[in-house]
Amino acid sequence: MTSVPPGGVPGDGRYGEAAFRPDRAGEAERIDFGALAYDAITMARLRALGAGPGWRCLDIGAGTGTVARRLLGEAGVASVLAVDRDVRFLDARPAPGLRALQADATAPDFAPGLFRLVHARFVLMHLPERDRLVGRLAELLVPGGVLVLSDAVDVTGERTPDTPYTTAMRAMWRGLRDTIGTDVSTVTSYPRLLREAGLDQVAAEIHVPPLEPGSAISRFWADTWRRSGQAMLSTGLIDAAGIDDAVRYLESDACAALSAGMLTAWGRKHQGPVG
Ligand SMILES: C[S@@+](CC[C@H](N)C(=O)[O-])C[C@H]1O[C@@H](n2cnc3c(N)ncnc32)[C@H](O)[C@@H]1O
Repeated sequence: MTSVPPGGVPGDGRYGEAAFRPDRAGEAERIDFGALAYDAITMARLRALGAGPGWRCLDIGAGTGTVARRLLGEAGVASVLAVDRDVRFLDARPAPGLRALQADATAPDFAPGLFRLVHARFVLMHLPERDRLVGRLAELLVPGGVLVLSDAVDVTGERTPDTPYTTAMRAMWRGLRDTIGTDVSTVTSYPRLLREAGLDQVAAEIHVPPLEPGSAISRFWADTWRRSGQAMLSTGLIDAAGIDDAVRYLESDACAALSAGMLTAWGRKHQGPVG
């Protein structure tokens, strides 16, 4: 079985079309499970970087808007422009200071203004244009502003023994790469890309949430496998029974595995000459 879609090239689909369609029931809940697993880590980092009163913020690929609303409600930022290719989940949960903009962040004419914070979580990894986009997003910062990028990193090693979980994860990453161009293998290069985009004070961290039965992250992966099932099956690395096995494994006490983690990398645009 080929891992390239018939008549296509690897990654010639798009997020939200070949997988993770927003019009499929339950997609907002899947994004929310990811948010439940990671929002506290994201917010702690954004606040440590200074996000607070007076800040104009841009959230790229804002999904259901959990980070955007927490920036407004907890950090007290002035405004958040939440951009997504599909804003139905943002429109469903409005908040004072939150503006939703339906746009494709990869479009050549995407120019939403200048911001103190530009944030993108679990978006660039799905976009084949990611390297170019880092430079483009850095251009959207005011002097002193920060660009914060978070994406998934798979921390299982080559010698990790096969389990239903590792088989499903391998098939998922391969299937998503072949269908929509998702690539998590380059996420560890984000600090370098931020530096090459001319940003200062570049640093990064990784958080790996514990895979406990019933946890938000376990439910997120189970849901993600169900919604990318076609892409996973087309790799030939797993069959439908294997996906069911992996979901049962995640929900059982036998589960002993490392979740994919979230790498967050950031950099600051220099202030320029004073006076
Ligand atoms: C995995 S979700 C992450 C949502 C949110 N950032 C979070 O972490 O909870 C990816 C989001 O990026 C959006 N997206 C994908 N490609 C995009 C593009 N080219 N321009 C704008 N948004 C995009 C999707 O519609 C989806 O809402």
